[in-house]
Amino acid sequence: MQKDFLTFGEISFDEIKEVFALSEKLKKERAFTKDKPLAGKSVGMIFSKSSTRTRLSFEVGIHELGAYPVFMDQSKLQMGRGETIADTARVMSRYLHAVVIRTYGHDEVVEFAKYASMPVINALTDDYHPCQILTDIFTVYEYSKRIEGIKMVFLGDGSSNMANSLMLAAHIAGFELVIAAPEKYRPRADLMTMKNSCGKVVWEQDPKKAVENADYLYTDVWVSMGFEKESAARLAELASYQLDMKLLKAAKPDARVLHCLPAHRGEEITDDVIESSQSIVFDQAENRLHVQKAIMSMMIK
Ligand code: CP
Ligand code: NVA
Repeated sequence: MQKDFLTFGEISFDEIKEVFALSEKLKKERAFTKDKPLAGKSVGMIFSKSSTRTRLSFEVGIHELGAYPVFMDQSKLQMGRGETIADTARVMSRYLHAVVIRTYGHDEVVEFAKYASMPVINALTDDYHPCQILTDIFTVYEYSKRIEGIKMVFLGDGSSNMANSLMLAAHIAGFELVIAAPEKYRPRADLMTMKNSCGKVVWEQDPKKAVENADYLYTDVWVSMGFEKESAARLAELASYQLDMKLLKAAKPDARVLHCLPAHRGEEITDDVIESSQSIVFDQAENRLHVQKAIMSMMIK
């Protein structure tokens, strides 16, 4: 494993398979295992954005691995009063064995990782959400018993953190990803292709055409954290990409629905779709715990 997990691009397909195997084991053994692979260690969690799943799944996961989670609200750290990221990273590396960071600018986690001698795990930035995406493909693997060759369609904000990490995952794990988004929210050109890609990333503006023959339909909020000022425009401009029953019916009959949550029902997804038997969003949310435990036990020495 590389020292840090920041975009999704740091992990190889062989390591993904290792994460899947360990996640399955940890999930199965959760109720009875006494294994504490990170006993005696401490893991920092620096958050400057809201969180329900990420905070809880990391905090509970760190505890279950035997380590101590130290949650820090970024605004209450000296960083909020001008201490540099570089100094903070070097100081924290003297106390902690790894750090999990959720913040705005992706350059902040890159800077932190540059100066930290411990592993840095990105728990969401404006540009990437790798732990979410690793969980999502594990969830697909659980349901389909494979990831290679799967067709997944991501609907909505194709320029979001979720879309960016998903594109990297498609290239590395070898699945077909169609991003259904309008021109203004089109996927980043530099992430649509990758040298030695095992997968395929396609941009399609017509949502109905995009979902044809899809195994998985994935959506996310239209207004990501930090983009609140653009709310009215985004809601109007992305309206035709709403994941509703009509769109779900246009995919494969057994297509499954993913959403990283939180969902804004009635905006990017309708109530009946998220509550349908094809929706696996709560399994997906649960898997954050197992997958992050796996990745932490592989990264933290
Ligand atoms: N999916 C996700 O990262 O959720 P939170 O924002 O609640 O952590
Ligand atoms: N794209 C969303 C994901 C939330 C988990 C955001 O950044 O707010």
